[in-house]
This record gives sequence, C-alpha cells and structure tokens, in this order.
Amino acid sequence: MTERYAVQMQGVVKRFGDTLALDGVDLAVPAGAVYGLLGPNGAGKTTSVKVLTTLIRPDAGTATIDGIDVEKNPDDVRRRIGLTGQYAAVDERLTARENLVYIGRLFHLGTAEARLRAGELLDRFDLADSADRVVKGFSGGMRRRLDIAMSLIANPSVLFLDEPTTGLDPRSRLGMWDVIEDLAADGTTVLLTTQYLEEADRLAEQIVVIDQGRVIAEGTPDELKSRTGGALLQVSIARAENRELAMSVLTPLCTGRVEVRDDRTFEAPITAGDRVVPSVIRALDDAGVDVLDVVVRRPSLDDVFLALTGHVASAEEATS
Ligand SMILES: Nc1ncnc2c1ncn2[C@@H]1O[C@H](COP(=O)(O)OP(=O)(O)O)[C@@H](O)[C@H]1O
Ligand SMILES: [Mg+2]
Repeated sequence: MTERYAVQMQGVVKRFGDTLALDGVDLAVPAGAVYGLLGPNGAGKTTSVKVLTTLIRPDAGTATIDGIDVEKNPDDVRRRIGLTGQYAAVDERLTARENLVYIGRLFHLGTAEARLRAGELLDRFDLADSADRVVKGFSGGMRRRLDIAMSLIANPSVLFLDEPTTGLDPRSRLGMWDVIEDLAADGTTVLLTTQYLEEADRLAEQIVVIDQGRVIAEGTPDELKSRTGGALLQVSIARAENRELAMSVLTPLCTGRVEVRDDRTFEAPITAGDRVVPSVIRALDDAGVDVLDVVVRRPSLDDVFLALTGHVASAEEATS
C-alpha cells in the first residue's frame, strides 16, 4: 500500500533541544504529484525535508520514499531523490558547467556521461549562454536555476525544493515557477516548501499547511482558500448618486454584507476562485452604473492562518 506514495511521513517527531520542530507530522504524496508544504518561518518545513532526504533522523515515526524507509535504507533513498536546499549549494569559483560535471562525478557518472548530462541541463534551464562563466557573477535567479539543475543530475524520481523562490526578485520568481511547472509536466514528483499561498496555489495540486510542527490543514488550493471565507471584492463607481443602486446590484453576487468605504467605493466578500468579476461588471453595466474599477484581493497565507488557527502566522510565535 505504502508504495502508492512517492513521499510519506507518518507521525514524524523531531526535537532540537527544547524545540519540538515536528510534532507528529503525517504526509502522503502520490507519485507524479506536486505537493506544497506551506507554512510560516519556523513551522518545520526544512526539518521535514531534512528527515525525508536522510539528512537528519526523526525521533519517532516513519518516513519513506517510494515505500523505502529513510532510516533503514538511506542509500536507496538517496538514489531516488534530488534536493535543492534553501541556500544555494553551488560553488561560486566554478563555472555553471563545472558545477554540474562535478556533481555528476559525485553521483558516479562517468566523465563523458556527466558532460553530456550537464549540457542537457544547461540547455533545459536556459543557462547555455552562461555555461562557461564563473558562478560568482550570476544573478539570484540563475544560481537557483543552476541549483535545481544540479539536483536533477542523477534523474531523481522525487525532487525536494525548499523555498525555491524566497529572496528572488519578481521576474526570477516567475522564471522559477515555469521551471517547476515543466518538471511537474515531466512526471517528477515534487515536494515544494513555501511561505507563499500564491506560490502553492499556482504550482501545487495539493497543499499541506503546517504550523509549529503540526499539520493544521490539507486540501486543494481552492479548498483552502474557501476555508478563509474567500476573497474580497472592491468596486469603485463613477457617480456617488448611483450608490444605492450599486449596492442592491452587488448584494446578491457577494457572500456577505456589502460595506461602504466611501461615497463611491464598496467592499464585499466573495467566493475565492469563483468568476465573480465578469458578473459584477455585467450586472452594474446592465443597471446603468458606471464602473471605475474592480479589484479582487485574494486570500493570503495570513488570511488562511487566521481562518484556520485564529492567530496570524508569525515566526516569533513559533520559536518563542
Ligand atoms: N539545528 C537546529 N537546532 C535547533 N533548533 C532548530 C534546528 N533546526 C530547526 N530548528 C528549530 O525548529 C523549528 C522548525 O525549523 P525549520 O524546520 O527550519 O522551519 P521552517 O523551514 O518551516 O522555517 C524552528 O523553531 C527552528 O528554530
Ligand atoms: Mg526552512
């Protein structure tokens, strides 16, 4: 049964001194899926990844990769996995190609094979033009792409990406999302950790939310967002005298009370992921109300946390 899951944790506990980093974590990722492990700083994301990638041993519980126990058969596990850690593992003094060949040799590829594989990965990660430059001059996005390329050198079936976009500028972040989507399309099982609901929403088909070493929720992105009570709609109209009319048009389209922000601006809760905006614009237009602006504020990780736990996601709370 266990083998149905590429990645599984059952009741995993891990302590560091007085800190209970993992307090009985259960997790099951089907082969080929992209899973998001979502949580604030200090939640236990990196610790989970470290247990699963054999870097640290759990104090209790079991963790398996393709049904293989990480404690009993760590070498078998290591042959199946790739890991891109939170801090880039590239060697700055080497070129991108040298980094890849070096890692390939560490994974016991022959020189010719390591070079071949390095060339493929440089092409695939859009690094071919910079292949023979020393990494020291690379941007954050390029380093991160090289780092992922390195973790794929031995064709792992399961890839761990620990906060792959933290610290990247928005453009590099989008580039990284494309890379991860490509990996997913190839059938690689991906366990991705992130602090951003938006990122998990975009990339993961299933999200596990952890906080203080415990799984506090699990579901598809839409399920989690709907548990927050959805999104917030903001509508501005051109003329204040249409206020009453606009409110009567908006009310049936929203899931709660329409609040007046000022003469010409209203706010109301809507269901996240529902395509409310086109209906709102059409309905106001039909009623003869001139619309200036319609904005949807989608739920953030903070909203999800507040809805699930009654407190905001804060690193201080998790560590103190
Ligand atoms: N090597 C360590 N020694 C002591 N405490 C640690 C160590 N690693 C992690 N922790 C603590 O365990 C908790 C979970 O950390 P971590 O898994 O790194 O969280 P995340 O990756 O979600 O930010 C935090 O309170 C952190 O301070
Ligand atoms: Mg971490």
